[in-house]
Amino acid sequence: MQMARLIWVIHGPNLNLLGTREPAVYGNASLARIDGDLAKVAKAHGMRLDSFQSNHEGALVDRVQSAPGSGVDFIVINPAAYTHTSVALRDALAAVAVPFIEVHLSNIHRREAFRHHSYLSDLATGVIAGLGPIGYRLALLAAIDSLRGADASPSGPRPPKKG
Ligand code: DQA
Repeated sequence: MQMARLIWVIHGPNLNLLGTREPAVYGNASLARIDGDLAKVAKAHGMRLDSFQSNHEGALVDRVQSAPGSGVDFIVINPAAYTHTSVALRDALAAVAVPFIEVHLSNIHRREAFRHHSYLSDLATGVIAGLGPIGYRLALLAAIDSLRGADASPSGPRPPKKG
């Protein structure tokens, strides 16, 4: 029998403070609660899921680099502040070529101008911003749907890739 598909969730800096960090911007849910919800969704769909958080750019790069060797099929990532600064994280995601969805709890496009640019978005399968914690769940469901094959999707085939 084939091993269940493996999805990694990666959270960047300061997301360990969710629940107490600027609740008006990021909501009241803790990271443990978000990860717990994702674990349940993955299990219900017969997928394996591992969550990881780091405040360190190099640790995030190391994690991404280790994805192919760990058999990871899809990554859901909230790069947090590194979204707007990290060429290193971008290069790591480009190097491993594991498909990923970028998630932001807040709508980065409604916020300060320095948050409008992402170093990752043009490499991502998709981007979800501004929906709060449910954004992670929607990203996970999209990853699961993608792993099951676009043709089997109830929403029909997805649009062709650019380029
Ligand atoms: C964030 C948005 C980023 O601009 C910010 O630095 C974060 C969180 C979000 O989830 O809304 O730390 O990625």
